[in-house]
Amino acid sequence: MSIEIEKDDNGNSYVPVPIAKLHSDQKLVAPIFLKIDEKFLKFKNSEDELESEKLDYFIQMNLKHVFIQMDDLAPFLEWLKNMDKQSIDEIVEEVGEEHRSLVEKSVEVREKVFDTFTDIEMDSGIAEILQEQVRDFIKEAKESDVSKAVLVKMLKHNSSIADHSINTANVAIFMAMVLGHGNFQVLEDIYMGALFHDYAKLKVSQVVLENKQSQKYEQIFKEHPVKGATGVGRLENVREAVTRIVEQHHECFNGSGFPNGLKGDGIFGLASIVSMANIFDNVAVENKNKAKKEMYRAAIRIIEHDKGKQFDPEMAEQVVEALKVAYGDYFIPAKG
Ligand SMILES: [Fe+2]
Repeated sequence: MSIEIEKDDNGNSYVPVPIAKLHSDQKLVAPIFLKIDEKFLKFKNSEDELESEKLDYFIQMNLKHVFIQMDDLAPFLEWLKNMDKQSIDEIVEEVGEEHRSLVEKSVEVREKVFDTFTDIEMDSGIAEILQEQVRDFIKEAKESDVSKAVLVKMLKHNSSIADHSINTANVAIFMAMVLGHGNFQVLEDIYMGALFHDYAKLKVSQVVLENKQSQKYEQIFKEHPVKGATGVGRLENVREAVTRIVEQHHECFNGSGFPNGLKGDGIFGLASIVSMANIFDNVAVENKNKAKKEMYRAAIRIIEHDKGKQFDPEMAEQVVEALKVAYGDYFIPAKG
């Protein structure tokens, strides 16, 4: 982290911390500040927790950094290091030491996603950097002959839109591999499409997003696939497959979806995969306070339930089988 000190009128010194470095739902070791209209305002006290919804707020407000006071720098950096290590270790414990490097790469992708999402207007340059990071991650996933299950066990269930996008991307490439897609370019397209599937919702205020009954929400929801595809399509080097995924991720197998009411084979296959992964993670997050076993059961059940309706029945069947195997150890009753 490069350190650029800023001072307020009273001579207090502040240091910026990228929001991607922050960990939600953990006790802070020092107060954090926001810089608004050139003033530093205390946002959270030491010992407070930063809710994952606040990460969405930062994305919405295009805030790339929060600030801490210079005096807190050393303990704060130490805290960040420990938190990073802890969250990587937790996943590694779950997936096995042999996958540590993949888990670390996934953390790097997460940082880039936050960086991209907090950009006021995503530009081609930053999208390109993200794409390179994604390539690196997928290369590692393919080269290390990773057990596919790792991809669905690296998920981070909070409510932040960035983490939902990353989860959707990881689940989507898992599903794609299950369905026989091994082509590097295809996996990259799916990953990028999944990361950007709700791009048009990123700068919508939390108040609107939470009020699902409002007309405003309805309008945004109805328009987000096309708007997102247009926004993402403007970037150089983003492939057409990626924009098609964004545009079609709410189409349904039985024709009841939107924006175009496409049906069956008329739906772009890669969009159907992202659509399943999206619902899977949405349901998992809705059940995030339950035991893992229940959480994943609920998420798997929704795909099973919607086969032939929202989802292609053959695809859904294969994916459900694979998910049950991948999460197998959550379904084994505890001994004793
Ligand atoms: Fe969506």
